[in-house]
Amino acid sequence: MNTSISAPDTARSGASADPLLQGLAAGPLYVDRRCYTDPRIFALEQRDIFAHTWQFIAHDSELKQAGDFRTTELAGEPVIAIRGADGQLRLFLNTCRHKGTLLVDAPAGQCEKMKCPYHHWTYDTQGGLISVPKVEAYGDRFRFAENGLVPVARFDVHAGMWFGCLDPDAPPLVEYLGPAASHLAEIGAYAGQELVALGAYRYSYDANWKLLMENTLDDYHAEYLHDYAFTQRAALFQMEGTSGFQEKEGSRFSLDLGIHGAFDQCDDIRTLTIQTLRERRLYLGIFPSFIALYNPVWDVTSFRVIEPVSVDKTNVLTYCLAPRSATEEQRRAIGERFHYSWGPGGRAGVDDIVVFSRVQKGLQARAGGRINIGRGIDRTDPQGGPADDHAVRALWKGWRQYMGVDEAAGAPTC
Ligand code: FES
Ligand SMILES: [Fe+2]
Repeated sequence: MNTSISAPDTARSGASADPLLQGLAAGPLYVDRRCYTDPRIFALEQRDIFAHTWQFIAHDSELKQAGDFRTTELAGEPVIAIRGADGQLRLFLNTCRHKGTLLVDAPAGQCEKMKCPYHHWTYDTQGGLISVPKVEAYGDRFRFAENGLVPVARFDVHAGMWFGCLDPDAPPLVEYLGPAASHLAEIGAYAGQELVALGAYRYSYDANWKLLMENTLDDYHAEYLHDYAFTQRAALFQMEGTSGFQEKEGSRFSLDLGIHGAFDQCDDIRTLTIQTLRERRLYLGIFPSFIALYNPVWDVTSFRVIEPVSVDKTNVLTYCLAPRSATEEQRRAIGERFHYSWGPGGRAGVDDIVVFSRVQKGLQARAGGRINIGRGIDRTDPQGGPADDHAVRALWKGWRQYMGVDEAAGAPTC
């Protein structure tokens, strides 16, 4: 299995940490609770992490036709991905070249051209400026070719997933993904078929953005927090031999993939499932804020795009995907299973969203001690497991690396 216990060399390192950060997440076992509650640290994360890392922009199936677009933000900067009339997908800063107005404010859609509402400068789907009212008033020096939309520094695709990055010096996408690239490719195809995005829910929760990343990779919360929900699921799907969540020693692995992490359940899962095409439950966290999931029990592939809003507010875009060959009826069934499982109102979704607010509230107790991410610390196998904090620690390794915090300095011990 392709795993690593060290962060890729290509990830950004050497950023000089703000004095505020010293000692906050120095060691592998603990995290200071201010990392989740201090607005100044949130601002530093935007500057040092989100402005330098690759972020998910869109799935290829969403933007197939010329003029299909999706808008989002990179480190707070508005961007738009749009399929040009020439068939190429491009990523631009979503700002008018005249006086800077946000050019497109819809989250997604289809257009023939992009007209700025303020003074009607208009751009084609390839980002070129094509019309300016009273252009002669700008004199002879005005050049249309010099006033097209500005491309984002980096834009690339892996397994149908498009990622963008503001930093021209960032490592290439596949290098950034490192050992997680093959896991992402596995989730990005279904039994060898490409996926199509059926749709996505957008929801918010009142807590720090990192809680959803950690929650997805801390698989052991499931048997406690979701105990009731999974018992109901077992009854619903008539799963014999289990009354709910079942931990099977040796079959569940928490993976350290450099600065990314995964939860992997890879054997004997057929005994638990009603589906057979894929065997492997795989939850993957791409640092800092993208999650790809496949669960064979629900037979659903999903992405979670985490959009930090403030230190205690987070938006989430959660996708449901299906194999391209799925019939309308199969797509409806997959959508339904997604809705009732990982949807924001689903069996597991509600439990998680509710507990995030509760965690954030508890974290306000400033002298409440550091957060423990030490489960499984003594395992020497980099695959970790069953169900410990290996993957969560991998993400914090990325956090320290991009924030410039030296792990060796003052690392606390258990
Ligand atoms: S700001 Fe866009 S046309 Fe003026
Ligand atoms: Fe959960």
